[in-house]
Amino acid sequence: MKQSAVLLAGPTGDLGTRIAKALVSRGADLRALVRIDAPDAHLERLAQLGVTIQPADVADVESVAAACEGVSCVVSALNGLREVIVDRQSLLLEAAVKARVPRLISSDYSADFTKTSPGDNRNLDLRREFMGRADRADIEVTSILSGAFMDMLGAEMPIIQPRLHRVLYWGDADQQLDFTRKDDVAAYVAAAALDEETPRVLRIAGDTLSARDVAAAMSEATGTRYRTLWMGGVGALGVMIRLAKLLAPQPRAAFPPWQGMQYMRDMFSGRGKLHPLDNARYPEVDWTSVRELLAQRA
Ligand SMILES: NC(=O)c1ccc[n+]([C@@H]2O[C@H](COP(=O)([O-])OP(=O)(O)OC[C@H]3O[C@@H](n4cnc5c(N)ncnc54)[C@H](OP(=O)(O)O)[C@@H]3O)[C@@H](O)[C@H]2O)c1
Repeated sequence: MKQSAVLLAGPTGDLGTRIAKALVSRGADLRALVRIDAPDAHLERLAQLGVTIQPADVADVESVAAACEGVSCVVSALNGLREVIVDRQSLLLEAAVKARVPRLISSDYSADFTKTSPGDNRNLDLRREFMGRADRADIEVTSILSGAFMDMLGAEMPIIQPRLHRVLYWGDADQQLDFTRKDDVAAYVAAAALDEETPRVLRIAGDTLSARDVAAAMSEATGTRYRTLWMGGVGALGVMIRLAKLLAPQPRAAFPPWQGMQYMRDMFSGRGKLHPLDNARYPEVDWTSVRELLAQRA
């Protein structure tokens, strides 16, 4: 049976595609907001999922408001810097208010930026700024905070060093870190999109464990002993960030190396730690543990 209509912004992206699949599997009437000139390959992929394609001039509030007509929730999976996270999402917010959409889920999916320090993490600062705008708008907005995407462990987040058989850490090897697999984030977002009573913030973590636990999980998965490797105190990350910004500033990149280090600092300092967790709100979501993920990879 078809459920309430949801408009998804960013359906062509990595997380957006996963959210689209999760919403379709829940029977949602899903409309995928795409640019007027979206490439055919993107449209075909979305059509195969069975979603309604909703082309719009994504820079025009009236056009986006028309795409929002009649939906009960707008979900954002947009990704980018200020012009996307603050400017384009603000346009989406304004369009949703114009179309009298009751709820919007913003593109947050990160460490807990309600607790980290302003100025410490550029991408989290942008989300905090959008949150301020969203809180002044006449619509219910929910932020879903998920910690680091687990899929990035040992890849974009290179704390696992297979050649050295080491897991890198800063500060305390027992600091608890939050990870959630992308598909689990998507399943939760889909459930939240169809839930009319979501609170302002939902915090989730598929697994919470320390660098020492990751080393034990790697030992178990590979049959080779992994140990932790101390890279310095959390303050050392501040020095590395300043150096990386100097040597490779890449101001237009969404995720330059120094940005990754800013996330590491928020994780290993414990400032971005998610607590309390709202995992149990949708009992049907099945959470992947880091042990399971590493065992599957091995
Ligand atoms: N916690 C973590 O570890 C972690 C890791 C990665 C990502 N994330 C978060 O997950 C969310 C989605 O990221 P992702 O990796 O799925 O991003 P992605 O693959 O880069 O997809 C971004 C989406 O945003 C759309 N978009 C970008 N700029 C736009 C603009 N100016 N106007 C309209 N649409 C625009 C793109 O549409 P087009 O295809 O039309 O350009 C695409 O659909 C973001 O909030 C990101 O920060 C979290």
